[in-house]
Formats: sequence, structure tokens, C-alpha cells
Amino acid sequence: MGKRIGILILSIIIISCSAKSSDSNKVDGNTKLETKIDDLVANMTIEEKIGQLTLRGTSSRVKGALPDSLKQAVREGKIGAFLNVMNLDYVNELQQIAVEESPKGIPLMFSRDVIHGFKTIFPIPLGLAASWDAETAKNSARVSAVEVSSVGVRWTFSPMLDIARDSRWGRIAESPGEDPFLASVLAKAYVQGYQGDSLNNHTSLAACAKHFIGYGAAIGGRDYNTAIISEPLLRNVYLPPFAAAVNAGAQTIMTSFNEVNGVPASGNTFILDTVLRDELKFDGFVVSDWESVTEMINHGYAADEKHAAELAVNAGLDMEMTSKSYEKYIKVLIEEGKISEDQINFLVKNILRVKFKLGLFETPYVPKNHNGDLYAEDHLNKAEDAAVKSSVLLKNNDILPLKRNVKVAVIGPLASKPHEQLGTWTFDGDETHTVTPIDAFKKSSVNYDFVEGLSYSRDNSTKNFNAAIAAAKASDVILFFGGEEAILSGEAHSRSNTNLPGAQEDLIKALAKTGKPIVLIIMAGRPISISNIINDVDAVLMAWHPGTMGGIAIEKIIFGDAEPGGRLPVTWPITAGQSPIFYNHKSTGRPPKAESFVQMDSIKVGAWQSSLGNTSHYLDIGYEPQFPFGYGLSYTTFEYSDLKLSQNTISNDETLTVSATITNMGNREGEEVVQFYIQDVVGSITRPVRELKGFERILLKSGASQEVTFKISAQDLKFVNNTMKYVVEPGLFNVWIASNASTGLKTSFNYK
Ligand code: BGC
Repeated sequence: MGKRIGILILSIIIISCSAKSSDSNKVDGNTKLETKIDDLVANMTIEEKIGQLTLRGTSSRVKGALPDSLKQAVREGKIGAFLNVMNLDYVNELQQIAVEESPKGIPLMFSRDVIHGFKTIFPIPLGLAASWDAETAKNSARVSAVEVSSVGVRWTFSPMLDIARDSRWGRIAESPGEDPFLASVLAKAYVQGYQGDSLNNHTSLAACAKHFIGYGAAIGGRDYNTAIISEPLLRNVYLPPFAAAVNAGAQTIMTSFNEVNGVPASGNTFILDTVLRDELKFDGFVVSDWESVTEMINHGYAADEKHAAELAVNAGLDMEMTSKSYEKYIKVLIEEGKISEDQINFLVKNILRVKFKLGLFETPYVPKNHNGDLYAEDHLNKAEDAAVKSSVLLKNNDILPLKRNVKVAVIGPLASKPHEQLGTWTFDGDETHTVTPIDAFKKSSVNYDFVEGLSYSRDNSTKNFNAAIAAAKASDVILFFGGEEAILSGEAHSRSNTNLPGAQEDLIKALAKTGKPIVLIIMAGRPISISNIINDVDAVLMAWHPGTMGGIAIEKIIFGDAEPGGRLPVTWPITAGQSPIFYNHKSTGRPPKAESFVQMDSIKVGAWQSSLGNTSHYLDIGYEPQFPFGYGLSYTTFEYSDLKLSQNTISNDETLTVSATITNMGNREGEEVVQFYIQDVVGSITRPVRELKGFERILLKSGASQEVTFKISAQDLKFVNNTMKYVVEPGLFNVWIASNASTGLKTSFNYK
């Protein structure tokens, strides 16, 4: 603890010596704030301090009066924050007790999982990541903040920043995808959107970067499972989005359920103290995940609740979510000398700092005129735009966009499912506001016949197949809305087989026999293995769970009033058996190549064992994914040409520019996401075959060209080596300007 005060004072002195006047105002402000916090904590009893470390859950479905015991606990200062109190009357009542009747009048913080919208629901985060657009992510966060702050929530458990490389993992739906660069861009945008221009504005939420750390690396994609991550991998891949969130000012961090290399995150001094506090200089507070402190007993890391509290407190976990080990044992642990009161003061101060910054001491209540503009036109427009930008066109045999005069057969379980369209973590989105594709078709007078064929995504019954086939025969085109119900992805919803569930593949195959073209629109929380049916369909549009306005966005895309704007934020596997799969993998000693690939059916019966000449591939499906990271078609085509490097060599203080000309070769306007990758060819530890270092979304009229330029400096070439140093090593670097991770114009330069 002494160490931390020392660091703080030292940094204040350093900053104040060199700062210009606006900075010195800030330092004065910080000093005043720290003094206020110190004074407050100096007067608090140990019970009140423990109260600040306590996050109590209530069910959002609670009806009737609040329990007296809960109110009394607030009155005594024994609770510092709540989650899921979703009724403004309860919020006001509890806040009034805290502010007016508790010993120190410290306001409560109310929290909620507002992950991709409160009332106006945006696409799931993996969909938002497919927009490759910071503005889209920021809009989703800002709209969420404006809406939910109207019911007193000033803290959201978002953004989720877990790098996810395995589509079996249900929580890939909530993730920013597989790439640390893209995830870092999104992290900053989400934090800015939630926290707004000024944290103490009544519409600003404290963001919570979660789950710290390595949760997405769960073995086999099984939720909550073990993560084994070497320290360089942790630092090069899993940490950057969290660092970006902290740099953007994220006020809170949530620990993950998993262990990292043998130590559960909630008791992990290395990640919470060394990395987060000492290295990233995080000065907000750390909250556990739901009971993740006491789950350290199940992990086999804590002997009992008391031991769990000791481990978490000493690791620097500030606030315990829902379990009660802090409440029960902190006092006795101090008495026994197992934790220090200084450490408790440190934790309490971290929490109070956030409460002060949120302006809760001055404005504890929701202003009377703040109604959140729920479902406001501007919110709905932003959600629609996000759904358009997130939709990824994966295949198109020139069938899309459809002409308005065609007769379509709308088939499949998800064409008219308001709830399923919203996706995971949408407790508050009112499905009566959802515009489904069928709603949108009705509104714009599409000539359609609607026969579901299957009534939900897991439906195995073939009894309605004939009706669907008859509708198909009477139409020009089949629009098949397939995928997963919302409940099949998200927390604790991993799948070992990621094909279309139920009898969807069978129905698609039966429909294909009609000879009518099929457009498959997928709504799902993860990449779906479509290798069994991809040749039976003419187009595939991935809409994710597109949110409230998804139906309108899809209708506009299908009929060409909007362009499918998304690009894959994850590699799309052929089968789940390829997982984990990601573009920024290592080369291996036997990298796969077409010449040496031997498909298993061509192996002679009784063949001698032989591995020579073979490479790192699967005998059945080879080594390519179904679709690479960054992939997505448009309604026009783009040509990449004229790759230029400003110089062939750079050294420490130089910046190199790489540019290429992109030309729209088609006959309609279109958007392209131009991607910039590098490869450090030889390293003191092996480097990925490619790493994303930049991207730009451009809009080009038919026939138009634009030069797109990326800058690269030594800073961008750095990585964490085996001695945990952040270094750039001299040598050859390949660079690509590309439309996805498996293609592009390539050149190289040297770093000296
Ligand atoms: C999830 C978190 C979530 C928390 C509170 C946990 O089960 O892992 O992401 O924020 O619950 O609802």
C-alpha cells in the first residue's frame, strides 16, 4: 500500500513539474479529489469500508416492496453498489436511503449488463465487430448509455474484450473477435461511447472492460474452462484490448471466471497488481465476476470462503460481485493480520474515485427530465445502420441484390422471430419493437409467401417440409432464414457441433431440389459450419443477431437499397473440428501448402506409414478455413493496384508509408474495408504469419479510385519477447494491403 501512495505522489510531482497550465489544472483537480477521498476514508468504520466493496444483486423481476433487510443494510452503509435493480422507484428509494440516512452519505452505484443496447438493441458485439467501424461501436455504446441512465444505471458491464478464436465457445457472440488490433480499436470506441465526453454527465456510464483475462482461451471452447496462455501470448494477443480500454479511461475492469496458468483471475496478483496497476497504471476499480471470488474454492485454489477473500483482497480485487466472502471475513482477516487495513483502504479509494468521477456525490438521482429517449428515431436509425454495416455477404452467385418485382418464398425458422433476432444479453429489449424481416417485407410490399418449414432453429420435424417446398416451387427465389435461436450462444452456451441445428440442413437440401435459387440468411451468435449445404445455396448473408432493426437492414440489403457492409472479425471454420482457428497463427516447421496436401480418400488402402512431405493439415478438409478473417463480399468489386512503399528501410525514429490504389470496378457505388497487415519474418520468438496493423473503410463510386495510405513506425513493429521486453527486432518485414487476411498486394522492407 505504501508503495502505491508513493507512486501516486511521485507521479503527481513529475506531472506537475512538466505540465502546461491545462494539465496543471487537471493535476490540481486530481490532488483535490484524492484529498477528498482520503478524508472520507479516514472517517469510515471498517464495516462501512466493507460495504463499499460489496456489489449486491437483486433480480430484475422483483415485484412489490423492497425487503426491509436490504434497506437496512443500505442505511448502515453495508452495500456500495447494486446490479439488476431495474425499477427507477427502487433505485430512488435505495439511493435516498444511502445519501440521506447512511452514516457517510456515500451514493450507491447501480449496474446492469447493457451489452449491445438497453431498449434499442444493436447487433451482438461480434456483429458490431464485423462493421470494422469504431463509430458504429461508439454509437451502440452511446445510445445504450443515454437509454439506461434514465433508469438510474450508471455502470455497465461492457465492453467484453475477450479475444475469441474458437466458435464453439458461446461467448464468442459477445466478443470483439480474434484480432487484438481490431479489438483495441473497438475497445476505445466502446469506452468513449459509454463514458461520453464527461463522466459526470447524467448520461455517462462507467465502462467495465471484461473479462480480465484470457477467458476466450477456454480449452475446447468449453465455457469457464482452463486457459493456458504463455506470458508473451498473453501480452501480445489477450492484453492489448484491455490496455486500449484503460488508456481510453475505462473506469472499471471485471475479472474472469477462468484460471490463467494455474491461478484464477480473481486471486491473481500478477494480472491484477503487476500488470493492471503497476504497468497499465489503472486507477479505477476491479470487480469480480458473479461469485468468481468464492468459485476459487471449486478451482482448488482457495480452501474456503475466508481464504478466497484473503486471496482476492491481497491480489487487489476491489469489489466482490454477489458472493459474500468480503462481507463475512474481511474484518477477521485484518484481525488475524492476513490482510492489512491499508490494503482495504486502497480498494475503497479506488471505488470512491469512480463514484466521485461519475458525479454521484453531487447528482445521485436521475434528473427529472431525463427519459432516455427510449427507441428514439435517432437511436433506431443508428441501430439500423449498425445492422447494415455488420452484415457480411459470404457468397453471391450474382443472385443478390434481388429485383423488387420477384416473387420470393420466405422459409426457415428465423424470418419472424422478434426475440431470437435480438441475441444474447438483451434482458431489457422489448421484442414488440423488433422489426423482423417479415415485418419489413410487409411494410415495403415485397411479393412473398411465408412458410416457416421449421418452427424454431432446433426443430427436427419434417412435417412442414412439403408446404415449404410447394411455396418454393411457386416462387422465383427462396429466402431461407436459418441459424440459431438467441439462447444457443452466449454465456454457458458452447456447442461442439456448430452446424445449423435441427433439420435446417435437410430442409435446405430438399428446397435445393426444386431448382429455385436459395439465399441463405443466417442469424446466429457464432460462425456456423455451412460446408454441408454451401453448394446448395446461391448466396449467404451473415446477419448475426442483428437487433431491433435487423429486419429492415436485411430487407434493404436483399433488395439492394443498402450494401452489406461487414467483414469477418473471426476466421470462419469449415467444421468446428478446425477450432481454434485464427489468421494470425504461427508458421510451424511444416506450413501447409497445396502441393503436399493429401486428401484422405486418395490414400491407398494398406499404405505404409509416412509423414515426410506432409504438412500441418487435416486429411479430410485440408488447412484453409471456409472464409478467412477480414472477408466479406460487396455488391461491386474492387481492384487493388499500385502498391508503394515510401522507403525500403526504416530505423528507430522513422515512419514508413505504404499505399495502394483501390478502384471500384463494378457499376454501383460500394464500401470496402481496406486492410493492412505485416509479418515480422524472423524473430527471437516466432511471429504470426500476419498481423493486422491498420484498416480503413472507404466509399467509392462506380469506376472511381482512391489511394489508401498506412503509416508504420518502429512502435507498430514491437512485440513482447521471451524476456517480457517490448522490442522491435531488426530484419525483414512483409506487408500487405489486402481485402482479407488470405490475399493482398505484398511487398517488404527492412528495419535496421
Ligand atoms: C458474466 C458477466 C456478467 C455478470 C453479471 C456473469 O455471469 O460472466 O459477463 O457481467 O454475470 O451479470
